[in-house]
Amino acid sequence: MSNAILLAPGPVQLHPEVQKILAHPMIHHRTPEFDAILARVLLNLKSFFQTKMPVLIQTSTGSGGMEALLVNLLNPGEEVLAIVSGKFGERWADMAEVYGGRVHRLNCDWGKPVDPSEVKKFLQSNPNIKIVLTQATETSTATGHDIKALADIVSKTDALFLVDGITAVGAYDIRMDEWKIDGLVAGSQKAVMLPTGLCFVCLSERAWAKAKVCKTPRFYFDLQKELNANQKGETYFSSAVAHIKALDFVLNEISKSGLEKHFAEQRRRADFTRALSAQMGLSLYSASPSDSVTALNVPEGLDGVKLREHLEKKYQVTVMGGQDQAKGKILRIGHMGYILDHHLIETMYRLALALKDFSYNIDPEKVRSLSTSWLEAHPLEQ
Ligand SMILES: Cc1ncc(COP(=O)(O)O)c(C=O)c1O
Repeated sequence: MSNAILLAPGPVQLHPEVQKILAHPMIHHRTPEFDAILARVLLNLKSFFQTKMPVLIQTSTGSGGMEALLVNLLNPGEEVLAIVSGKFGERWADMAEVYGGRVHRLNCDWGKPVDPSEVKKFLQSNPNIKIVLTQATETSTATGHDIKALADIVSKTDALFLVDGITAVGAYDIRMDEWKIDGLVAGSQKAVMLPTGLCFVCLSERAWAKAKVCKTPRFYFDLQKELNANQKGETYFSSAVAHIKALDFVLNEISKSGLEKHFAEQRRRADFTRALSAQMGLSLYSASPSDSVTALNVPEGLDGVKLREHLEKKYQVTVMGGQDQAKGKILRIGHMGYILDHHLIETMYRLALALKDFSYNIDPEKVRSLSTSWLEAHPLEQ
């Protein structure tokens, strides 16, 4: 049995070079060496976000980025439309309420994407909405929303369209400028392929204009101050030097291969997971499966919590289970990070072994050979 495999929807497996960089001796953030790295990273982040606007680095987890968008863009008392299709949608709606937003929740059934025409109707009958919040992928249900269609609708209103792209940016095509997204956040432990600890936020021009007059108090998450510091070649607070050095490597690698190829690699892993699970008799939980994470329904009669634990303890494969109403019912397999074909084959093989231990009728050796054949038949484009 080879080593442990981590195919969670974040944190993700790290590139061996990233692991080495993280172990380098520390350098100070006020040095010419770090200045050059920061300048390069801030530039390359723009391509990663598909934007001409500045992308800011925050030393916080992704939720800090979601909070930063709110404290810079939401005035107390303003009306907010929150698309809630799972745990992270709930979190952002709750956060907006904490900051005084009058939040209307557009609830979607778990596993279903929002219908853009419902959002359009809601905005037409509620012209006072100032902010629309959504996830790009709702990680708790592995469901992708149609961000392009939603952005098109919201950009024709006075509302700002804020997108939690924590399990989307860098995993698949999200076009900040072309689609007219006003605020976008990404997290380091997802498609950015680093450990947890950084997030990235980007505002459109109309969002910056609102940030300048937004009355909500803020200090650590004051994006204008961060931007001012970046324009002097610095970060506002101490820079997360080790993470940013590793980020420099990741962004350089992606820019060498190009975003399209990078997305195609992730799509191939998602396609593989969907194809193999169908062959194993496992159906998909989501009606709009994302390319960053796939949720598989646990077969009827099996306890998904025990199955996940067994897969981890006996076979050293870590995937995630479901939360709340999906607890014990789904397994969520991530497609982001440093993933080689043998990780994919081993994950499906060991999942089959674990299912067999739970008396599910499956032939693990056959799953292994089907996995290998699928990957050979769908090679990565060079
Ligand atoms: C879509 C989405 N939003 C927000 C978060 C929260 O990010 P963090 O745990 O980094 O604060 C996550 C984390 O899994 C996520 O997947």
